[in-house]
Formats: sequence, C-alpha cells, structure tokens
Amino acid sequence: LREHEEFTKVKNIATIELGRYEIETWYFSPFPPEYNDSLKLYFCEFCLNFMKRKEQLQRHMRKCDLKHPPGDEIYRSGTLSMFEIDGKKNKVFGQNLCYLAKLFLDHKTLYYDVDLFLFYVLCECDDRGCHMVGYFSKEKHSEESYNLACILTLPPYQRKGYGKFLIAFSYELSKKEGKVGTPERPLSDLGLLSYRGYWTRVLLDILKKQKGNISIKELSDMTAIKAEDILNTLQSLELIQYRKGQHVICADPKVLDRHLKAAGRGGLEVDVSKLIWTPYK
Ligand code: ACO
Ligand code: ZN
Repeated sequence: LREHEEFTKVKNIATIELGRYEIETWYFSPFPPEYNDSLKLYFCEFCLNFMKRKEQLQRHMRKCDLKHPPGDEIYRSGTLSMFEIDGKKNKVFGQNLCYLAKLFLDHKTLYYDVDLFLFYVLCECDDRGCHMVGYFSKEKHSEESYNLACILTLPPYQRKGYGKFLIAFSYELSKKEGKVGTPERPLSDLGLLSYRGYWTRVLLDILKKQKGNISIKELSDMTAIKAEDILNTLQSLELIQYRKGQHVICADPKVLDRHLKAAGRGGLEVDVSKLIWTPYK
C-alpha cells in the first residue's frame, strides 16, 4: 500500500504523537502552512488540537478539560463507547479530525466543510478517559444514499476488528433510518477488503439460516446493504445464477460452508440494544 505515496503529494508530517502512541503517518495532509516545517506533530487525544512542540502539548494537557470527544455518547458496551459529533456544532474538532485522518487516507478528497457531516468516534475507555481508536464520517444528507464518507482505524488499533465494528455500526444507523446505504467511493484497498469481509459475513450468515428462497431485495431490507453491493458480493462468491433474465441466489449449503470457513472470525459485534440514537433531522 505504501507505494501509493510516490504518486501523491510529498508527505510533510512523518510522525504524530497521540495519547500514549507515536504513530508513523502514511500520506500527505494539508495542515495549515505554519505546521509544514515540522516532522512531528503532538495531538491532544481528546480535543485533537495539534502542536509543534511537546512542551506546548504538556501545557495544553494541564488546561484541556476534555476526557472524551465532544458531542453525544450514543453507544456504550463494556469499555467501548461511540460518540456522535456534529461538525457544525464542533467545527474545530471536526477539522482537526479531518487533518488527522488524511494522514492515513490517500484516495479521499477530504471535505473541510465539516458543517455537512456527522462524525462517529469510537473509543476505548479507562480511568484516564476515552481514547479514540477510529471513526467514520457521514453526510447529514446524502443524495447518493451514502451512509459513510470516510472510515479510519488508527494504525495501533488496526486488524483487531474495529474496522468491521465501525462498518457494522454505519449499517445499524441506516437500519434505524429505514434506508439502505453504501460507502462513498472510491474505496481504498484496505477499505474494500474490510467491506468485502463485512458484506460476505453478513450475507453468508443469513443464507446459512435461511430456509427456502430469498431475494436480493429481501436481503437488502434486512441488512440495509444496497442491492448492488449484495449482488456484487454474491457474484464474487459464485452464489448467483442468471436465469430467464433474472439474478437468482443459489445457496448450495456445501458452498456456503466452504465460504463461511474462509470468511474467518466475526469480530466485534455491535450490540444494538446499547445504541441510543435518533436520525439527524
Ligand atoms: N492486510 C490484509 N487484510 C487486511 C488488512 C491488512 N493490513 N487490514 C484489514 N484487512 C482486511 C481483513 O480481511 C480484515 O478481516 P480479518 O482480520 O478478519 O481477516 C478486514 O479487512 C477488517 O479488519 P478490521 O480489523 O475489522 O479492520 P481495521 O480496524 O484494521 O480497519 C480500515 C480497516 C478502516 C480500512 C483500516 O485499514 C484503515 O483505517 N485504513 C486506512 C484508511 C483507509 O484506507 N480507510 C478506508 C478508505 S475508503 C472510505 O473511507 C470509504
Ligand atoms: Zn485538548
């Protein structure tokens, strides 16, 4: 994945400090010009303000009274919490998050018009506070039925199932809205892998339990996954046949079992009973 670097703008910030982690960055991010002569930036892990010097951060930490992201806590299960932040109400936080995220997102043109977005920040909480592990953004109103604009798991937390949790969460919000959703394109390589994995697991689980025929429309209604994404996923699993001008799902139990074995672990589950949320109006 790193080979993309050569084709994007020259990387400016090489490392960041965030909470107890020092993280190497992946890509260019358009920080304000006065930060561009720094190789390293120091982030407050709660308000995401960034600074050029360690002493500035230390001074900031004595004053900053946040111990979690701003906004509303809409989900809590065990040590995991999700906060919803309205970009219009918390503009600086939204912008800081975008600057930070761009360091790990190549394909995305980030919108700094954060007013139009909601940010869902996932945290691991302990007695020192709620520490961000990742987030996704979502347009308040999407014409194209996007239910997610950008998704990121911070590198120290990657490959532990948080990405799939964030994706599952975005579909739970869509279910509450009574809409189908799809992620904004283009997807990065890692984004596509994660979505493919999520779609595959969700669809296989339903087909496995299902007795009798089921249509793509019914699957879409159950999962809030857009019909096109379902069709593509099932096609790649070779579970679709084309009969009399129609796509038909052919869920041979043996083929299902083979795919389920290959699909690997399910990851962290979203416990919907712990989600307290009403759609944005
Ligand atoms: N190598 C191979 N497969 C991978 C890798 C990797 N480095 N990372 C994730 N995957 C695949 C695996 O299939 C994995 O499932 P498995 O562990 O059960 O095999 C699946 O993706 C999801 O893994 P998670 O642990 O749930 O995901 P993670 O927390 O690592 O987050 C994410 C995935 C968000 C894509 C992360 O890699 C990331 O933040 N990348 C940088 C930013 C990015 O590319 N975001 C997506 C852009 S597209 C968009 O925003 C719409
Ligand atoms: Zn702060």
